Amino acid sequence: MSVKWNEYYQKVAKQPHRPNVERAANLLALNNKTAIDAGCGTGRDSNYLLNQGFTVHAFDAHEDAVETCLTRFEGNPCFYISQSCFSDFHYPQCSLFIASASLFFCPSEEFDNVWQKIDAALMSGGVFCGDLLGVKDSWVEAESHPNISAFTKSQVDALFEGYDIIHFHERDEDGTTAVGNTKHWHMFSITAVKR
Ligand SMILES: C[S@@+](CC[C@H](N)C(=O)[O-])C[C@H]1O[C@@H](n2cnc3c(N)ncnc32)[C@H](O)[C@@H]1O
Repeated sequence: MSVKWNEYYQKVAKQPHRPNVERAANLLALNNKTAIDAGCGTGRDSNYLLNQGFTVHAFDAHEDAVETCLTRFEGNPCFYISQSCFSDFHYPQCSLFIASASLFFCPSEEFDNVWQKIDAALMSGGVFCGDLLGVKDSWVEAESHPNISAFTKSQVDALFEGYDIIHFHERDEDGTTAVGNTKHWHMFSITAVKR
């Protein structure tokens, strides 16, 4: 995949955590604060969760993201990170699963297996907070993003059958990426509690 992650990392380096992640953390009613930050990038959400008293298990496929997080959270005994992709990460039990703008990069042929692992890792009463791509997104047919995972609304509904949806936002509009490229965004942002 020819995504220039370093350009993205520099753009978002100073950005705070995502509001959806704050909402998800506040929603958590379990007496357990263990989070997975999947495709963590430079750790904007991990940083927030660590400050909220979570133990964070982060992973990212890109070594520069991992290196940045290792430096950023050096010495923090509650932060664990590995350079892994969605399919080879060993998912620990967690009460909060975060996948901000990352899960759609899971190759489509691996998604079902990865989704089963995510669902198995998230404890009952735990919170999922992440983004899935919709089938109308311009990356779906783009050569730059082969094998990207994308879903119809009813396919997303099926994935969350065992969950109570707390927040659901469908973005379907022309826009730009974080690094300023124009594209059509079709993205579902979901916060849901596992029954
Ligand atoms: C748009 S960035 C989002 C980063 C971070 N979650 C944030 O909100 O700033 C997507 C991240 O997913 C990572 N990624 C892409 N494909 C991946 C894969 N197959 N497994 C794990 N991480 C992946 C990229 O390296 C990148 O850091």
